Amino acid sequence: MADQPDGQPSKGEYRSGHDPRTLRDALGCFATGVTVVTCLLEGEPSGLTVNSFTSVSLEPPLLLVCVHKKAATAAALTTAPCFAINVLQTGQQPASISFSTRAGDRFEGTPWSCGEGGAPILKDSLCVFECERYAVYDGGDHHILVGQVVQASFDASLDPLLFFRGKYRRLHFD
Ligand SMILES: Cc1cc2nc3c(=O)[nH]c(=O)nc-3n(C[C@H](O)[C@H](O)[C@H](O)COP(=O)(O)O)c2cc1C
Repeated sequence: MADQPDGQPSKGEYRSGHDPRTLRDALGCFATGVTVVTCLLEGEPSGLTVNSFTSVSLEPPLLLVCVHKKAATAAALTTAPCFAINVLQTGQQPASISFSTRAGDRFEGTPWSCGEGGAPILKDSLCVFECERYAVYDGGDHHILVGQVVQASFDASLDPLLFFRGKYRRLHFD
């Protein structure tokens, strides 16, 4: 069955294979939240949109994100002693778009302040994990950046921005 015009698989399509397109579309079936990972290095804020976020350990408190080695922000994020993971809420889709596409000052349209460790905290995020860099591992074409959480905060009144099959989504049940 042919793909839809937006490149997404058709409803009811079953596909199996080991080609890159099938792998990408299969990975897109894993619904995720959306985060913006930020750091401040030599006074310069950096950040990019990331959904490869997962918790790793509670004791010690560790989490990880995978950052493409060719991302312009990769060098800063793997060098800065601290970074922040801003988990986005439904009203922050513009920030997600800006931090995944926009060249130049991505922070211009998004209010932020410095967290305790110095990393940029995006205002009105659903939740924020401030981390110290714990380890950077090789992950093929990505860096696996592991952080030790020093501060976590969240706003229980907000709903998450979701990403599924290449599109932004929101919860549709309580
Ligand atoms: C929903 C979403 C999730 C993304 N997840 C990741 C990710 O986990 N790792 C990554 O390296 N890029 C991810 N990207 C792509 C980067 O945000 C994008 O390539 C960005 O422009 C890289 O910016 P930079 O080159 O300035 O660092 C994602 C993009 C979107 C829209």
